[in-house]
Amino acid sequence: MEDHVYQQCINADCRADYAVDDVLFACRRCGSLLDVVYDWDKVNVPGSLAFFEQRWGTAGRDLVGRADYSGVWRFRELLPFARLEDIVTVGEGRTTLQQADRLGLDLNMKPGSLFLQYEGFNPSGSFKDNGMAAGFTMARRLGRRRVACASTGNTSASMAMFASMAAPAGEPSVQGIVFVGSGKIAFGKLSQTLDHGALTLQIDGDFDACMRRVLEMSDKLGIYLLNSLNPFRLEGQKTIMYRVLEGLDWQVPDWIIAPGGNLGNSSAFGKAFLELHHLGLVDRVPRLAIINASGANTLYDMVNERGLCWNAGRVDHDAIADHYRRMDETGQRARTVASAIEIGRPVNLTKALRALDVMDGVVRQIDDETILDHKAMVGRYGYSCEPASAASVAGLHLLLDEGVISKSERVVCVLTGHSLKDPDATVKYHTGIDVKAAKWPDPVPPTGKRSNHPVEVADDLAAICKAIGELAPEEAQGPRN
Ligand code: F0G
Repeated sequence: MEDHVYQQCINADCRADYAVDDVLFACRRCGSLLDVVYDWDKVNVPGSLAFFEQRWGTAGRDLVGRADYSGVWRFRELLPFARLEDIVTVGEGRTTLQQADRLGLDLNMKPGSLFLQYEGFNPSGSFKDNGMAAGFTMARRLGRRRVACASTGNTSASMAMFASMAAPAGEPSVQGIVFVGSGKIAFGKLSQTLDHGALTLQIDGDFDACMRRVLEMSDKLGIYLLNSLNPFRLEGQKTIMYRVLEGLDWQVPDWIIAPGGNLGNSSAFGKAFLELHHLGLVDRVPRLAIINASGANTLYDMVNERGLCWNAGRVDHDAIADHYRRMDETGQRARTVASAIEIGRPVNLTKALRALDVMDGVVRQIDDETILDHKAMVGRYGYSCEPASAASVAGLHLLLDEGVISKSERVVCVLTGHSLKDPDATVKYHTGIDVKAAKWPDPVPPTGKRSNHPVEVADDLAAICKAIGELAPEEAQGPRN
């Protein structure tokens, strides 16, 4: 076992340890989620966060220069699982905190109170690139050349982009395999995934069905899973919070507000602050608000209606299982215009409960109409985001109205994805034209030399494995033609 980093089960009654190179996505003993854990005494951590400023703006072409240019890897001492020689970067995470006074004024906030962490500026247009940089670094370390994810669109766009760039020229390419629900992902995201050459399997089901299948398939075929169940991905997403602090001259804000889907981001934020506090690099921790869409409100329901909590690492798993059983029995499915967060069974639920505990958090739900109104509000002041991202600003509005957040507190809303990811939602909101409902001519089979047509496949493991075996064999050398 490498002596400063290992994986550990988050269940306080188990805490099984695993080596850093062990490929697993749940504890073998109890099935709980895993953390990447460091023995910080053996890591050379800078004494102050201001240390990281010296790297901002550098762009050398060697390994160190490329790592310094990345908004993830310039904080590498705080995610020290990565060996420099394994680092994969596409220039992700060069996002900055934006002071949004005019938007804040519209919400009756004092100038200097509202900030937006605009992750839509990432190379693939969403925050996922932070996590993929870390996930692909691990895949490289492990020598994996086939990677997979289930997605509501942004994970797949980011994974497909990284897969197409991860291997240096002369090395075999990395094959991305993507599971999406038929008709469930916005076209902007689907178009990225196809262009970057991922094998795109469209399953007749929703995100939760895709997640179940990708887990089975990756286990059966030994393909490296890059959903946020992979704890290394969350290491990359911690850096969003480092950049927030940097944008505030290393002062801690009062609130962080983020949309909640699969709950990877909020889990990563909780871990980031837990570690920074442990290391004495911050003197306090901000509060966290996680915002669900009302149509995909498992966390809201479990926390606010059923009182589920972290309980010092002893989460009531029976209550969660009960909830999912009831959802199945009543045919309850996630449904929201914010397709990115249309998720009924968030895989990081228990880690998000820890984040809520560490950051004295709250959970709220917002209906679709209010999400879209706030998306237009964000756009009106010069920032652009997709519907799921606007849930954070709508959540802020609600928490201001409730008096939970006061108008002079310092608040950071995370804008998770760019508005061009889902132009259909924007066009429909402003014009009433429903692009998805419009009558399309019968599709003509694609004839482009590099057309990468999605493959419709039954929601069936054997059919999926067969499709992958035929279309993405082990030694795949690049995108299909
Ligand atoms: N915002 C956007 C734009 C997203 O794409 C997602 C998740 C979230 C918020 C929620 O983040 O899962 O960390 O709670 N998208 C995933 C995907 C699920 O497949 O692209 P989370």
